[in-house]
Amino acid sequence: MKIAILTSGGDAPGMNAAVRGVVRYALSQGHEVIGYMRGYQGILEGDSEPLVATSVSNMIGQGGTFLQSDRCPEFLEKECRLRAFEQLKADKVDALIAIGGDGTFRGARDLYVDTGFPVIGIPATIDNDMGYTDFTIGFDTAVNNVLNAINCLRDTMHSHNKITVVEVMGRKCGNIALASGISGGAEFILVPEIPFNINQIVDEVKNSQRKGKRSNLIVLAEGAGKMEDFCVAFEMLSGIKPRQTRLGFIQRGGSPTYRDRLLACRLAKQAVDCVLEGRGNRAVGIHGTEYFDMDIEEAVNIKRKIDTDLYNFAELLN
Ligand code: F6P
Repeated sequence: MKIAILTSGGDAPGMNAAVRGVVRYALSQGHEVIGYMRGYQGILEGDSEPLVATSVSNMIGQGGTFLQSDRCPEFLEKECRLRAFEQLKADKVDALIAIGGDGTFRGARDLYVDTGFPVIGIPATIDNDMGYTDFTIGFDTAVNNVLNAINCLRDTMHSHNKITVVEVMGRKCGNIALASGISGGAEFILVPEIPFNINQIVDEVKNSQRKGKRSNLIVLAEGAGKMEDFCVAFEMLSGIKPRQTRLGFIQRGGSPTYRDRLLACRLAKQAVDCVLEGRGNRAVGIHGTEYFDMDIEEAVNIKRKIDTDLYNFAELLN
């Protein structure tokens, strides 16, 4: 069989490890792999290259994606997907493995619905916002990146008795903020899914200062509100000017952690097994310690909910 692979949407550390896993495992089973460049854009442009064992040498520890990635709004149009189908046929591809987040999966699902072409989705996004799987590739690395930054910030904020606001990624999903906030010992974690009251935050900060607390860390998910506005309002209400740090794309880079590498290897195997066993239109994922695949349509319809138990527990720890 000839399996095509692409990486699409925002890159995530571990995407390369997943591509490597697909290539090496498929080759070991006697099959061929090609990679399309820049996600769905590469299919539309017929831009692909054969992937052999050496194509993925040294890739397991590299962040980003050597196949490059793009968001491809044209793929929302059926006419584009039909062109992609023609290209896949012209390239003699039997199945497509798409690595990415929700938008990537929807593109794959639509391609399948329009053409019946077998597609498999491997979840990779730092946001960990796909409800059908416990984890997406890249989340663990991103959270560790944030923690490294928090450790640095804590040193200096503690030396100067400062309130610090750290803005992390997550437009609709507070998982990075929650995971890095609880494990970084943040005093406040602000996420898009749960409303917060700034007056209450100010009161709690002032109270803690009266009790001798030297510094306070607020982790703010980008979707929970604009960091600059939050800081202006905080200063107006409290008379204290917080420091502001926006981590931005630093979070999305770097060598993947052990957990992301292992997840990438195992999900790659699950995806190739789907192809080899004739299961198309699947999304692969992990629940607990089990790797599984399920209908991609069902998968994209399962919304991610914030873990409110963990959120409430984080509040108790502060
Ligand atoms: O989806 C991953 C993500 O990094 C989000 O956390 C962030 O909001 C967004 O991508 C940034 O998007 P872009 O790369 O298009 O600027």
